[in-house]
Amino acid sequence: MDDIEVRPFVPTEYVVRLARSKWERAGHYALRREIFCREQGVFQDDDRDAIDAQAMPIIASCCVAGMPDRIVGAVRIHEAEPGIWRGSRLAVHAEHRRLGRIGAELIRMAVCTAHGLGARRFFAQVQEQNVLFFRRLHWTSLGTITLHGLPHHEMEADLSRYPAHGRAQTWLLRPQPVLRRSA
Ligand SMILES: CC(C)(COP(=O)(O)OP(=O)(O)OC[C@H]1O[C@@H](n2cnc3c(N)ncnc32)[C@H](O)[C@@H]1OP(=O)(O)O)[C@@H](O)C(=O)NCCC(=O)NCCS
Repeated sequence: MDDIEVRPFVPTEYVVRLARSKWERAGHYALRREIFCREQGVFQDDDRDAIDAQAMPIIASCCVAGMPDRIVGAVRIHEAEPGIWRGSRLAVHAEHRRLGRIGAELIRMAVCTAHGLGARRFFAQVQEQNVLFFRRLHWTSLGTITLHGLPHHEMEADLSRYPAHGRAQTWLLRPQPVLRRSA
């Protein structure tokens, strides 16, 4: 038993999908509150606003034994004007960041879904520290703005890189860390 390495559980499988059930929606809002109210302090008790009444919530959930277990990612999309879509409230739980491209997959699901629903342009207001992340994912900055007292960039997705799809969910598999042993 001495040679068994003890390490924290790291999920290998995530599902990214439109939040349809009650628990998925509840998890979507709970994660947003956790990140935008408690972690970032951008909002006080609740970050929900009028856009939520028309937005489509999207979630990423880690899976255990193939079944969605815990919601660890969120984003929402809405059509602001005919053909003009926006994404907002992108959030990945701190313990799952830079692990399995969850944020990138949430953006892909958001933009490809909107494209499939007729988006001709897709925009987001991006916090300054995430501009490079979005640039690498084929977004362009259209200029700087201040939002909730914080510097943001208005950014636009290159829709040619986000083919329209009507898929309700996609899966992400993440390799397990390699165990290194000394000889
Ligand atoms: C921004 C955020 C959504 C990124 O999610 P994530 O799941 O950690 O990102 P991913 O794992 O998909 O990252 C994909 C790639 O971008 C890189 N990346 C992640 N965040 C980055 C950043 N802020 N700047 C530059 N690169 C970044 C990752 O290292 C990874 O690189 P790799 O492909 O070379 O390994 C997450 O950090 C988050 O929720 N932050 C707090 C809330 C927030 O800032 N929301 C966005 C408001 S605009």
